[in-house]
Amino acid sequence: MKYTYPVTRTTHPKPKPADENNLGFGKYFTDHMFIMDYDEGQGWHDGRIVPYAPIELDPASCVLHYAQMMFEGMKAYLRPDGKLQLFRPDMNAKRMANTAYRMAMPVLPEDILISATEALLREDKDWMPKAPGTSMYIRPFIFGNEISFSAMAAAHYTFIIILAATGAYYASTSGKLGTSRIYVQDKYIRSAQGGTGFAKVGGNYGGAMRASEDAKAFHCKDVLWLDAKEHKYVEEIGTSNAFFRINDEVITAPLDTGTILPGVTRDSVIQLLKEWGVKVSERRLSFEEVLAAAKDGSLKEIFASGTAAVISPIGCLNYQGVDYPVADGECGEIANKLYHDLYGMQTGVVEDYMGWTYPLDITVE
Ligand code: COI
Repeated sequence: MKYTYPVTRTTHPKPKPADENNLGFGKYFTDHMFIMDYDEGQGWHDGRIVPYAPIELDPASCVLHYAQMMFEGMKAYLRPDGKLQLFRPDMNAKRMANTAYRMAMPVLPEDILISATEALLREDKDWMPKAPGTSMYIRPFIFGNEISFSAMAAAHYTFIIILAATGAYYASTSGKLGTSRIYVQDKYIRSAQGGTGFAKVGGNYGGAMRASEDAKAFHCKDVLWLDAKEHKYVEEIGTSNAFFRINDEVITAPLDTGTILPGVTRDSVIQLLKEWGVKVSERRLSFEEVLAAAKDGSLKEIFASGTAAVISPIGCLNYQGVDYPVADGECGEIANKLYHDLYGMQTGVVEDYMGWTYPLDITVE
């Protein structure tokens, strides 16, 4: 289906960021946003592009009390020929559908997600940053906005997309991928079987913040999450999926527990490693095994993967106050090659040999 959305242009365009090398993550929002409504019986309707502005919410709006919401994270990249492209947006749409089911929310059709994203990018293409390592972060989100204290699924929803000119999530100053210190969290949990760990919902992130804050006392950027039941198996790192290379096997937590977010970058990493002939396993890995490998030298690499983080190597784990360096503490060769090919394909400087990019007919001057 072909969608067109009416546009109300801003009469007060904002100044663009002065220094594209210091954009940070999600700080510089563009001039417009996309909004669409959902009402039971009517479905999704009235998609429109309007000036970026605060939204009005009734204080009794159910999302403010019961957090019936979900979001996604995507990026638009600038290719050397000046065109914009997305990366596997169908995967985001599929994840949104799974999240919607878990949260008893209406499914947003894939063609609405993609056409709305494209229309908004077209409107705000002059905001596309050009400095190396930058991109346009796309944040679609949906929330229940029924005015009611009844803790039941809402009958009215709002879908919004906003865009932020963005730099690297974990900035590096050296040109090489910088490594982070990560605290092994053995007290709090991120997600339990039967919970919402596989869904992209705000509550997963809000509930993680105490742990991330506590990690700072150990000079760590974030935490390595262990499973909820036994506090034994490694799961995710901060807001990203986690990969461990022990000798020549790269291991990541399997999705069948329902506690792991099915990351688009996670899936891309697994497929790329298979393509390169690297042994990659989706299996449960105990922290005990990681610790033993760190001690005997067989732990070669740990890295996190995500849309925001891309590939983020970990140089050191801190467990109960003791540091365990990962190999020599520098970015490992697999993480480096993954970043090179993945980010290269996304930005069009490496040929897309996996067929993942989604070029848009939008040219940036
Ligand atoms: C993303 O990688 O897009 C995310 O959603 C992570 C974000 C919460 C920082």
